[in-house]
Amino acid sequence: MTSPFLSRIAITAACLILLAGLVTVAALEHRRRLRAAEPTPVLTADSARCYRCHDEKTPALSEAWRRGRHAAVGVGCMGCHRAEPADAGAVNHEGQWMIAVPTPARCGTCHPQQLTEFRASRHADASACVATVAEKLGGKPGALAALQRCRRCHGGPEAVEASGRPAAATWPGGGMGRVHLDGSKGNCAACHSRHEFSVAVARSPETCGKCHGGDEHPQLAVYLASRHGARLQAMRGAAALAARPWFPGRINRVAPTCATCHLSATPSRPATHDASARLAWQLRDFQLTRRPEFAEARAAMSEVCRACHSDRWFGTALTRIGDAATEHNRRMTEAAAGGAPATAALAVEKVVAEQRLSGDALYRAILEAAHAGRRDLHRTACAGPGAER
Ligand code: HEC
Ligand code: HEC
Ligand code: HEC
Ligand code: HEC
Ligand code: HEC
Ligand code: HEC
Ligand code: HEC
Ligand code: HEC
Repeated sequence: MTSPFLSRIAITAACLILLAGLVTVAALEHRRRLRAAEPTPVLTADSARCYRCHDEKTPALSEAWRRGRHAAVGVGCMGCHRAEPADAGAVNHEGQWMIAVPTPARCGTCHPQQLTEFRASRHADASACVATVAEKLGGKPGALAALQRCRRCHGGPEAVEASGRPAAATWPGGGMGRVHLDGSKGNCAACHSRHEFSVAVARSPETCGKCHGGDEHPQLAVYLASRHGARLQAMRGAAALAARPWFPGRINRVAPTCATCHLSATPSRPATHDASARLAWQLRDFQLTRRPEFAEARAAMSEVCRACHSDRWFGTALTRIGDAATEHNRRMTEAAAGGAPATAALAVEKVVAEQRLSGDALYRAILEAAHAGRRDLHRTACAGPGAER
C-alpha cells in the first residue's frame, strides 16, 4: 500500500515534470517563431557547415550575419572566409580551409569601387606614420612597446602563429591601416561592424569616435558638443541612418554625422570611400598647408553644407578654417623660434630622448607629442563649439 504522503509527492513530481515540459515547448516554439520571422539564410554546402556549428557555439555572431544584407543575397561564411591551402594565412579549421581575417582585397572582389576609393585615402595608409616614428626611434628603451599600442587605431602588420592562427600580438586588433598577409592594406570592418556590415553603424559618429576620440584627436567630442551633434542626439530616429539612399537635406533633415560630411552622398554627388577627398587643408603636423586638390575638395565639401545651409553661412564657416590655420602657423613658428620642436616627429623624438619616462607615462607622452596642436583646428573644422567666432 502506498502512503498518502508518497502519492502526494508522486503527483507533485508529475505536475512539475509536466510544467517543465510545457515551458520547454513554449520556449522552443518562441525560438521557432523568432526564426520564422527572419529571412531564411541562403547557404552553399561549405558555408552551411560553418553556419550550423557557429550558430550553436556563437549564436550572436551568426544572428548578426542573418540580420545583414549578405545573408539575404547569399554571401555565406565562405564568401569571405574561403581559402586555398596555399593562401597566406590559410588554416585548416574543423576540416575546411579558411582565413580568419578576410582582407580588403577579398571584399574588393565584389565591391571593387569601394576598394579603389578606400585605397586612395589616408585611411588605407594609416599605419605608415607610426612605422616612420618607429623607424626613427630605433631601439630607444620602451619606445617600441609604446608604439605597438598606437597600432590599435593606426593598424600595423598582421602576424600569424606557427599553426597559422592569428597571433595574439596583433589580433584582435581593429587598426585602420592593417597590413594583411596578402599585401592588401586597410580594414573594412573598422567602420562596418561585423557581421551585419551595416551602413547605419558606419554612418554613426560613435563608430568613427573609436579612433577619432580622446584628448589627442578630439573629433568625436567636438562633434557631440556641436549644434549638429546635439541635434543628432535629440532627434536620432528622424536622421534615418539606415535609409537607402541617404543624403542630407531631403532624406536626413536633422543634422550631418561624420559620414555625411566626409563620405556619404550629397544631393548632387555620389558617396565616396576616400575620407581625404573632401579635405582642402592639411590639418597636420605643426605647419598647416593647402592640399594640392584644394579647390575640388572645397567644392565637394560645400555641396554637403549647401544641402541644409545658405551659401553665406557655410562659406563663412569654411573660410574660418583657413583663418585658424594661418593663426596656428604663426604661433608654431614663434614657438619654434623659441626652441620648441618644429614637427610632430621631432616632438616625439625629444620625449623619448629625454629618457625620463617609461611604460604608460611614456606612451601618453608620445601620444600627446604626436597629435599635439590640433584641438582648436578640429573644433573649427568640424563646425564645433567656437566655430561661430
Ligand atoms: C564543428 C564546429 C565548427 C565548425 C564546423 C566551424 N567552426 Fe569556426 N570555430 C569553432 C569554435 C568552437 C571556435 C573557437 C575556437 C577557440 O576559441 O579555440 C571557432 C573559431 C573560429 C574563428 C576564429 C579564429 C580562430 O583561430 O579561433 C573563425 C574565423 C571561424 N571559426 C570561422 C569558421 C568558418 C569560416 C567556418 C567554415 C569553414 C567554421 N568556422 C567552421 C567551431 C566551428
Ligand atoms: C562579408 C564578409 C564576411 C562574411 C559573409 C562572414 N564573415 Fe566572419 N569575419 C569577417 C571579417 C571581416 C572578420 C573580422 C576579421 C578581423 O578584422 O579581425 C570576421 C571574423 C570572424 C570570426 C572571428 C571574430 C570573432 O568575433 O570571434 C568568426 C568566428 C567568424 N568571422 C565566423 C563567421 C561565420 C561563422 C560566418 C557565416 C555565418 C561568417 N563569419 C561570415 C567577414 C565575414
Ligand atoms: C561574394 C561577394 C561579396 C563579398 C566577398 C563581400 N560582399 Fe558585401 N555585398 C555583396 C552583395 C551582393 C551585397 C548586396 C548589394 C546590394 O544590396 O545591392 C553586399 C552588400 C554590402 C554592404 C551594404 C550593406 C547594406 O546594409 O546595404 C556592405 C557595407 C558590404 N557589403 C561590405 C562588405 C565588406 C566589408 C566585405 C568584406 C569583409 C564584403 N562586403 C564582402 C557581396 C559581397
Ligand atoms: C585612439 C586612436 C589613436 C591612437 C591610440 C593613436 N592615434 Fe595617431 N591618430 C589617430 C587619428 C584618428 C589621427 C588623424 C586625426 C588627427 O590628426 O587628429 C591620428 C594622426 C596621427 C599622426 C598624424 C598623421 C600624419 O600622417 O601626419 C601621427 C604622426 C600619429 N597619429 C602618430 C601616433 C602615434 C606615434 C601613436 C602612439 C603613441 C598614436 N598616433 C596613437 C588616432 C590614434
Ligand atoms: C571610414 C569608414 C569606412 C570604411 C573603413 C569602409 N566603409 Fe564602406 N561605408 C562607409 C559608410 C559611411 C557607408 C555608407 C555611405 C552612405 O551614406 O551611403 C559605407 C557603405 C558601403 C557599402 C554600401 C554601398 C552602397 O551604397 O550600396 C559597401 C558595399 C561598402 N561600404 C563596402 C566597403 C568596403 C569593401 C570597405 C573596405 C575596402 C569599406 N566599405 C570600408 C564607411 C566605411
Ligand atoms: C580604426 C580607427 C579609425 C576609425 C574607426 C575611423 N578612422 Fe578616420 N582615421 C584614422 C587614422 C589612424 C587616421 C590618420 C591617418 C594618417 O594620416 O596616418 C584617420 C584619418 C581620417 C581623416 C583624415 C584623412 C586625411 O587625408 O588626412 C578623416 C577625414 C577621417 N579619418 C574620417 C573618418 C570618419 C568619417 C570615420 C567614420 C565613418 C573614421 N574616420 C573612422 C583612424 C580611424
Ligand atoms: C559639418 C560637417 C562635418 C562634420 C559633421 C564632421 N566634420 Fe570633420 N571636417 C569637416 C571639415 C569642413 C574639415 C576641414 C576640411 C578642410 O580641410 O578644409 C574637417 C576636418 C576633419 C579632419 C582633419 C583632417 C586633416 O587634415 O587632418 C578629420 C580627421 C575629421 N574632420 C574627422 C571627423 C570625424 C571623425 C567627425 C565625427 C566625429 C567629423 N569629422 C565630423 C567637416 C565635418
Ligand atoms: C543635414 C543638414 C545639415 C548639413 C548637411 C550641415 N548642417 Fe550645419 N547645421 C544644421 C542645423 C539644422 C544647424 C543648427 C542651427 C541652429 O541651431 O540654429 C546647423 C548649425 C551649424 C553651425 C552653427 C554652429 C553653432 O555653434 O552655432 C555651423 C557653423 C554649421 N552648421 C556649419 C556647417 C558646415 C560648414 C556644413 C558643411 C560642411 C554643415 N553645417 C552641414 C544642419 C546642417
